[in-house]
Amino acid sequence: MVNQEDIKIAPSPFQAFLDDLHSKYKSITEGVVANYIPELAKVNPNLFSICIVTVNGDIYPVGNYNQLFTIQSISKVFVYGLALEDHGRDYILTRVGVEPTGDAFNSIILDEQSKRPYNPMVNAGAIATTSLIKGRGATERLNRLLAMYQRYIGSDVFVDISVFTSERSTGHRNRAMGHLMLNFGMIEEPIEEALDLYFQQCAVMVSCKDLAVMAATLANKGVNPVTKEQAIDSSCIKDILSVMYTCGMYNFAGEWAYKVGIPAKSGVSGGIIAVVPNVMGIAVFSPPLDSRGNSVRGVKVCEELSQHLGLHQFECSSKSSHFLDSLFRNVEMNGNGN
Ligand code: DON
Repeated sequence: MVNQEDIKIAPSPFQAFLDDLHSKYKSITEGVVANYIPELAKVNPNLFSICIVTVNGDIYPVGNYNQLFTIQSISKVFVYGLALEDHGRDYILTRVGVEPTGDAFNSIILDEQSKRPYNPMVNAGAIATTSLIKGRGATERLNRLLAMYQRYIGSDVFVDISVFTSERSTGHRNRAMGHLMLNFGMIEEPIEEALDLYFQQCAVMVSCKDLAVMAATLANKGVNPVTKEQAIDSSCIKDILSVMYTCGMYNFAGEWAYKVGIPAKSGVSGGIIAVVPNVMGIAVFSPPLDSRGNSVRGVKVCEELSQHLGLHQFECSSKSSHFLDSLFRNVEMNGNGN
């Protein structure tokens, strides 16, 4: 178990760099918090945290990193992984595609020919994915989802009932997508059960530090680097990171791939995770969103991290290897950073 309150922050150049990054973007006031789910509108827009967890399990947190919030769309990454484990890639591909949409996350669209939702990172695709999670009835399926989150995070997780019921009673657009997919045989009855499970997976409470550990687990071949537990079969990681890379930031995915260049996923509560394979997981939390539904500060922090540390997957300069050398040398010099 990870003790939520027990992180000792080791002084290091890397921690100082993150502290500076946090100070630099703290005063930004652009963006609007999500309000289409009424409960989300109550959040304090000033909350702001950054956390990096390396594949060695070292933790570099800044700001309100233990503050809990609902995971929202970031859940889509992990539930997609569970569906891949449950059914295998070939079957999942018959139900959900892997093409970016270029449209908003809540668009009511399916692929004209196949009738599949475009990808598992937009709402329609995520509802289809969730409907495939195995279990005898609603309770077992929810418990399997919660157990999955626990493996990634390393501690117990809970659904925020207010957010769940708030979305359940207002989520008519998602309900419409569910019925459209039911019409084309892409999901099966009972449709309200699949929608409830989708609303519940979105309403699971996480902190910025939890998200960074989850992202680091994806970076670490599916093994939680803090608890050393295998959270997901390593054979699924390539598929998960591929759809994150091409579709994780919605209709900003192309620009994100161009500028930041690492697999990522955002959620309307203001979280973003990004994965540097075999190196580290990154998480940022700041509720005000831009017009595409991505955290304003989160995008800026990730852009600067990528540029400064040379994290882009196609970076050809030696910047990237210098950063990795110094990060891991520093870890050795200071013991481990937690
Ligand atoms: O389905 C919804 O609308 C929300 N539960 C999740 C949306 C979300 O986080 C999209 N992210 N940018």
